Amino acid sequence: MDCAQDSRQSGTESGTVVGEVPVTELSNPLSIDIDTVSPECIAKTLHACDKEIFEGWGTSAGFHDTSIIDTINKVVTAISDVVQTPSKGCVVISGCGTSGRLAYLTSRRFNKFLRSQGKEECFKYIISGDNDALYSSVELAEDDPREGAKRLKEVVEGKARVVFIGVTCGLSAPFVAGQLDMCLSDLDTFTPVLLGFNHTRQARKTEMKHLNKTFHEVVKEMRKAEQEEKAFILNPIVGPEPVAGSSRMKSGTTTKILLEILSFLGITHLESPLCLGAPRLVQMYQDVCETVYRQAESLGSLAFMAKESLRNHRHLYYLGCGALGLLGIIDASECRPTYGASFDDIRGFVYGGIDGLDSRPISSALSTDDFDKEIIPKLDANDTVIIFGEEMLQRVNQRLFSCPCKRAFVTFITDKETSSTLRDKVNNSNFDLVITMDICSASDFPWLHEPQETLNKQRDRKSSGEMSLPVPPNAQTQTSENTEIQLKSLLTQLAREAAMKWTVNSTSTGAYIQLGKVYRNLMVDVRVSNAKLFYRACGIVKDICNIEEADSRSLLLRSIYGTDILSDAQTSSNTVNHIIAASETDKVVPTAIVMGLCHCPVQQARSLLDTQPNLSAVLKDFQSQTLS
Ligand code: F6P
Repeated sequence: MDCAQDSRQSGTESGTVVGEVPVTELSNPLSIDIDTVSPECIAKTLHACDKEIFEGWGTSAGFHDTSIIDTINKVVTAISDVVQTPSKGCVVISGCGTSGRLAYLTSRRFNKFLRSQGKEECFKYIISGDNDALYSSVELAEDDPREGAKRLKEVVEGKARVVFIGVTCGLSAPFVAGQLDMCLSDLDTFTPVLLGFNHTRQARKTEMKHLNKTFHEVVKEMRKAEQEEKAFILNPIVGPEPVAGSSRMKSGTTTKILLEILSFLGITHLESPLCLGAPRLVQMYQDVCETVYRQAESLGSLAFMAKESLRNHRHLYYLGCGALGLLGIIDASECRPTYGASFDDIRGFVYGGIDGLDSRPISSALSTDDFDKEIIPKLDANDTVIIFGEEMLQRVNQRLFSCPCKRAFVTFITDKETSSTLRDKVNNSNFDLVITMDICSASDFPWLHEPQETLNKQRDRKSSGEMSLPVPPNAQTQTSENTEIQLKSLLTQLAREAAMKWTVNSTSTGAYIQLGKVYRNLMVDVRVSNAKLFYRACGIVKDICNIEEADSRSLLLRSIYGTDILSDAQTSSNTVNHIIAASETDKVVPTAIVMGLCHCPVQQARSLLDTQPNLSAVLKDFQSQTLS
């Protein structure tokens, strides 16, 4: 594939659903050979796929779909009602894996903003697997609808009005289904909102334990309630992931954008001093996306450094302050289920440790103090440390600069003044790579620099969609200049965070692709750690080995149980038992694929992978042998 291929070219076949595979699980035609191209080209391919977030996919207009903007505005109205009386109500955002981590990040960010305004916090988050799932994968918790409902009940105790936003990119997580189901049974208290990126007809149709209905049935009930505007479904179709099923990427980014737009407009609804509507905010994120990927060559170099560290069985460390540090932690946490990585391969650290948590405990070393104590003394020449943001650069332990490791600095500058002082500081430090992303220059965000007068005029442009939020006539006088400055600074923060997410996602994804953890655009070392991942693994084995579903399942089970002849007990056991057994075994999917392609026993497949851990290379060797 030409790495600079325009994302629109995938549109012809993609507007309709290909087979029964949901959009979020499809293979993206734009990234079909992402495993064969240079690191820079990997970044360009990620860019092509990310563009679909903004340009739509096939016949779907994505964010520009008028019904999506309309739904956004309705949810905003519901949120702003709650924000006004926080003692009575709250906004709960919930999800599993990355979706739950972004729920936390959003609630943290907007509660912080409300506090800075002297207002009461009103955002709450729920993540399946509790706070430890913020930095490590606790995938099995996703399969429990009862636990989801139980957590929701605890969180909303004493509240009479609740906007519940359940995020499940694939419209599939039972944990979220249990919560939506609970909301639907009490629509006087709850306004449930489902956020995901598949067509509703593609919602998961397998029975859920303890709920006696499928996700698809829950969605149907949501649709019914939506007709009376008592529930909402927000599902812009943004196209398949660059690595099939890796919903931390595009779906995660779209989740972040949507949650932030809803929250930003929800808390400014009545004041609206910046007069920005959803389309204008989407434009901001699109500008950031372009700015980040303009540096595809540098992103490729970053991914190459990361790959070299991991290839040498060493580590990649991200350091950052505030949300930048948290986004590093979030990126690292997803590599385990997606690429079969170990917890120590990639780790993130945040200055001052994780804040904004609910009262539930967290049990890991995640602050840059921990990094200083535990990691710095052990760094070696093959480790890579990436410092994100000038705030972190100012606070980093100077001992780092005398360590033998590789160092990179990535900064998302937001004004020219910072950039010149920064340059001096960077020049005096000792970096192998420096990347400066001017994400907030006047050319990228003209509206941030527009005088209030211009903004007032924009408010009157009713036709443009972006002005569709009602603004009271005296809004201008109600809001202080101070609030306006704080809102602009909030938007700048959000822009930096988006840039950070794209940067770390492309670093880790690029590294694991180069390490052979992706074949074509399939994650071939996915950990089989919950039902969704079990079925995804079956599909991957089926596709690559070109066999029937029953055969792929049998290969997967043989790999899980390390046997060539499955016992009756193993064959008839339920998915949960398979998942528990799989959690104790490495390289489950690669072993099954090698067995299927080479028609060899499980032990032979395992030893083949011991000598050549790069599955993509094994598969390519195999392919060229069969062709010759
Ligand atoms: O099960 C693992 C996982 O796929 C994560 O990678 C993802 O972030 C999480 O599930 C949530 O998925 P969804 O948002 O589709 O429910």
